[in-house]
Amino acid sequence: MCGIIGVVGSDETLATLLQGLQRLEYRGYDSAGIALVRAGHTWRARTAAGTESVAALRVECEAAPQNCRSGIGHTRWATHGAPEAENAHPHLDCSGHVAIIHNGIIENHAELREELRARGHLFTSVTDTEVVAHLVEELRARGLELLDAVRQALLRVRGAFAIAVMDASEPDVIVAARRISPLVVGTAPGVCYLASDVPAILDRATAFYAVNDDEIVRLGPEGFRAVDLEGAPVRLRQLQIDWDLETAEKGGYDDFMSKEIAEQPDAVRATLLDRRRRDGTIAFDELRISDQELREVRRVVLVACGTSLHAAQVAKYAIERWARLSVDVDIASEYRYRDPVVEIGTLVIGVSQSGETIDTIQATREAQRRGARVVAISNIVDSSLAREADAVIYTRAGLEVSVASTKAFVAQVAALELLALRLAQLRETLTPEEIESLLEGLHDVSGHIATVLSRRGDVDAVAAQLLDAHDYFFIGRHVGFPTALEGALKLKEITYLHAEGYAAGELKHGPLALIEPGVIVVAVTTDVNMHEKILSNVAEVKARGATVIAVATDDDDQIDAVADFVVRVPATDPMFTPMIDIVPLQLLAYSLARGLGRNVDRPRNLAKTVTVE
Ligand code: F6R
Repeated sequence: MCGIIGVVGSDETLATLLQGLQRLEYRGYDSAGIALVRAGHTWRARTAAGTESVAALRVECEAAPQNCRSGIGHTRWATHGAPEAENAHPHLDCSGHVAIIHNGIIENHAELREELRARGHLFTSVTDTEVVAHLVEELRARGLELLDAVRQALLRVRGAFAIAVMDASEPDVIVAARRISPLVVGTAPGVCYLASDVPAILDRATAFYAVNDDEIVRLGPEGFRAVDLEGAPVRLRQLQIDWDLETAEKGGYDDFMSKEIAEQPDAVRATLLDRRRRDGTIAFDELRISDQELREVRRVVLVACGTSLHAAQVAKYAIERWARLSVDVDIASEYRYRDPVVEIGTLVIGVSQSGETIDTIQATREAQRRGARVVAISNIVDSSLAREADAVIYTRAGLEVSVASTKAFVAQVAALELLALRLAQLRETLTPEEIESLLEGLHDVSGHIATVLSRRGDVDAVAAQLLDAHDYFFIGRHVGFPTALEGALKLKEITYLHAEGYAAGELKHGPLALIEPGVIVVAVTTDVNMHEKILSNVAEVKARGATVIAVATDDDDQIDAVADFVVRVPATDPMFTPMIDIVPLQLLAYSLARGLGRNVDRPRNLAKTVTVE
C-alpha cells in the first residue's frame, strides 16, 4: 500500500505534492518520489530514507525546475522490490518521458516484464509497477493519446491499482485510473488533483469526486473526463466532504496517537448520535437494508483484521447475548480461502476503519458471491467496503492518522453494539425496558472514557516502572478477552516488545509454562460476572513470579491484595467494558513506547491502510 498524489494546472505544483505526500505518509513511508513535467522534459527525484523519506525529498526538490504546472508524487510501502531509491516511484519508460506512480500490485508483472524485455525494453527497478510505464510507452509510440494508451495498457494487467501517468510530450495531462486501490479526484478553478485520499488535497481542491473500479480519468487544467475500460464515457460521483483540515492535523498534541486517544469520548458520542427515533426504535440512516431482511437473519459472520477484528470479537458476545443469534468471527484473510459455508439468512459484517483493507474487502466479496447480505462498518464515507456492501453503518471517529488504531476501535464497538441492540429489538429478544436501560448504559460510555483519560497519570506512573520489561501477557475473560488481545496488539505495535493476548482460562493449557519472574501480566478484571474466576487466574500467575497490572473497577476491594499495580476504571455493564478498559491499555502502550523512544505514530514495518493481500 502506498500513497499517490497528482496535480495539473497549478502554480504551486511542488508545494502541493510535498504537502500531500506528508499527509499520505501514513500509507507507507519506505521511500518517496516526485516527477515534474515541463517543456517536453520529465524531472524526477526519489529518496529512500524510511520515515524521513519525504523530508529528504523536500531537500532534493530544491534543485527542481521552476514553474512546472503538473506533477505526480508517491510515498511507498514496499511490496515488490526492496525499499531502495531505484524501486521508489515514479518509474519511467525507456525514453524517460513517461512517468508513473502506483498503489497496488500488478499480479502478472513477471510475464509482462519478460514480454517487454524480449521487445528490447530496459528495466531499471524490480518493481511490478515499471511494466506499466513500458506498456504505455509502446502504445504512445503507436500514436495513441495518453488516455487511450493508459486504458489499453490496463487491459493487459491483472491485479490492483490506483495509478497516475504523465508524459512529457503531453505536459498538461495526467491520466489516472483505479481498480481496488483507492483514488479520488479534486478540482479547483484551472487546476485538477488526484490522490489516494481526500485529506492529501483537502485544502487545495474545492470539489471532490470518487473514481470507481476500472474507470480512467484524464485530468487537465480545464477539468477532467472519465471513461471505462472500453472507452465509454462515465460520470464521476461528487463526494460530500465535511472535514476541515484541522481534523487532519495534530491539534496541539505531541503526536496523532495521543490526540486520537483523547478523542475517544467524542468518537463514541458521535457514533451513537441520532440513532434513535422518537418511538424508541434504533435507526441507522445510512443502513440500506430493510427491517424485514434483518428479521430474517439466522446467522451472523463478522470478518475483519487487526484491531477491527478485536472489535468484531466483542460484537460476537453482544449479538449472541442480546439478539440470540449464532455468531462467528473470521480473520478476513482466512475467510475466502477456506471454502466458507453461507446458508440462507447469513448476514456478513465487514468491519474496517479504512474500508480499504483488501483482506476484508475480498472476504466480503466472497461472502456476497456466495449469497450473503453484507453490512460494512466503516469509518470512511464512501470507502470501497462501504460502496460494495449491501448496507453500511458509519463509525464517526473522524480521521484516524496514527498507524495504531485507537478511537476507531471504541467507535466500532459502539456501532456494533448498537446494531446488536437493533437486532434484539427486531427479534424481540430483549424487552423495551431492557433495551432502554442498555442504551442508557451505552450513552454513558463516553463519560466513563473521559474519566479514565483524566487518570492518565496513574498509567504513566506504572509505565515508568516497567521500562526494562520485555515480556507481556494480557489476559481477560468474556469480553475482557478481546480487550486483552487488543491491549497486546497495541503494545507490540508501538513498543516492539513481545506481548500476547490470552483468554485467562486458557493460560493453564500451555502458556503458564512461560510465566516466571520478570514477565508482566496485564489482567482485565472488570467483568463482574467473571470476577472470581479472573482473580484465580491472577493468583496463578502471581504464584509463578509474574508482576501483575490489573485493570479493575473503582469498587473492586479485592484486587489490591493480588495485583502489583492497579489501574482503576468506572464500573459498567460488562458488555461496555471493552470501550473503557482498552483506554488504560492504549495509554500503557503509548507511555512505554514514548519511554523507549519509539515513533508512536509510525511504527516500523507497518502502514495505516493495508491494500495488499
Ligand atoms: C492496529 C491496526 C491494524 C488495523 C487493521 C485493519 O492498530 O490499526 O491492525 O486494525 O490493519 O484495518 P482496517 O480497520 O482499516 O480494516
